[in-house]
Amino acid sequence: MKIYAINGSPRKNNNTATLLKKALQGAKQSVKNKEVQTEIINLYDYNYTGCKSCFACKRIGGKSYGKCAVKDDISEVLEKISDADALIFGSPVYLSSITGQLKSFLERLTFPYLVYDNSYSSIAPKKMPTAFIYTMNVKEDVMKKIGYEFNFRMIDGFIEKVFTKPLVMYSNDTYQFDDYSKYKVECFSEEDKAKTRKNQFPLDCEKAFKLGEILIK
Ligand SMILES: Cc1cc2nc3c(=O)[nH]c(=O)nc-3n(C[C@H](O)[C@H](O)[C@H](O)COP(=O)(O)O)c2cc1C
Repeated sequence: MKIYAINGSPRKNNNTATLLKKALQGAKQSVKNKEVQTEIINLYDYNYTGCKSCFACKRIGGKSYGKCAVKDDISEVLEKISDADALIFGSPVYLSSITGQLKSFLERLTFPYLVYDNSYSSIAPKKMPTAFIYTMNVKEDVMKKIGYEFNFRMIDGFIEKVFTKPLVMYSNDTYQFDDYSKYKVECFSEEDKAKTRKNQFPLDCEKAFKLGEILIK
């Protein structure tokens, strides 16, 4: 059994990566009797682009039908995860949505599997269970007020269409820097951030662990 976490943050040990690792631990725990391999894929380690609109993946009788024909660093990852038993995506919120790196990755992963038929059916080789962890600076009430969830649902909707409906969790009000005194920050207080880091983030970690467990069960 192979479970992959796809880290859409450039940071390998911060909020998103930490929660993804917890989710992998939870997934591993829930299949303790079976052989299970887990891996975190850090997208910023790879040099790649988004979809180039060549449409080779939709060309009738073409050798790349249903597959991404663009060849770059991410091709091996797309190939590797095509038969995964579960996928857990994670992204910090950048400019109200997922990071550009993850967006490009999702274009390359999902678009070749979407068929331009009347129901936009999916020809993904496997309909594996999926999950999505979003981390962001804003608090939950602001997230709801601004309408971020609409953007997230658009992304989740593509994953659902191609694979399965993702289990979703949010981690809000995240701690961004090691030492707030070194940065110009006036719109929120370090004291409040530190409190959330101490009191809420461990709960988010537990939530991520459970999400991993439920995903596999
Ligand atoms: C370029 C950039 C844009 C960001 N845009 C937003 C945003 O629109 N809304 C928000 O709530 N947080 C925003 N943030 C904050 C991050 O989403 C937040 O700190 C996140 O938890 C960082 O995840 P990481 O620690 O895994 O890198 C932004 C951060 C950066 C670097």
